[in-house]
Amino acid sequence: HHVGILISGRGSNMAALVEASRSSDCPYEVVLVASDKPAAPGLAWAADNGIATFAKSPKGMAKAEYEAAIDAALREARVQTIALAGYMRLLSDAFVARWRGRIVNIHPSLLPKYKGLDTHARAIAAGDTKAGASVHIVTEELDGGAVLGQAEVQIHRDDTPETLAARVLEEEHRLYPKVLAEFVTR
Ligand code: GRF
Repeated sequence: HHVGILISGRGSNMAALVEASRSSDCPYEVVLVASDKPAAPGLAWAADNGIATFAKSPKGMAKAEYEAAIDAALREARVQTIALAGYMRLLSDAFVARWRGRIVNIHPSLLPKYKGLDTHARAIAAGDTKAGASVHIVTEELDGGAVLGQAEVQIHRDDTPETLAARVLEEEHRLYPKVLAEFVTR
């Protein structure tokens, strides 16, 4: 099963997905890593690890035109499922409709709590005792599609958004490959 991953930055979840895909019983293969930020560190990692990459900044382009270029790259690579991994751009309704039910995302909160940005700061400010990450289907509603899997961590009294993010990220790296493998064989 061919997976294409969209990133904008560090790409640690992308790397976790690629690393898991190397196990002989993994049901998916990462055939393309694409980024809207040509300088994304994750792109260099993917290229160094033998994965085809596609980099294109949307600057100066209409959104539809930009997404058509991404779509073409994904189709060229015969991508069947798109995994968003720190992709910081909203996909248009038209793009989501074109890939309906075939785009997944990882979000660093226990959805439906804390959609959007600054999830860890918001969880700490609310006095929550646990936080976590969710893998979900992408729909037109931001962070709103069906949840496929979650991982929880405890929030410690002395946590800052940064220390909490690091604890959640470790769980993300376990959760995403597991849920993606289940998703492509569903
Ligand atoms: C992760 O926390 C992910 O949940 C969120 O963005 C961050 C991306 O980190 N959507 P990385 O690029 O995978 O390292």
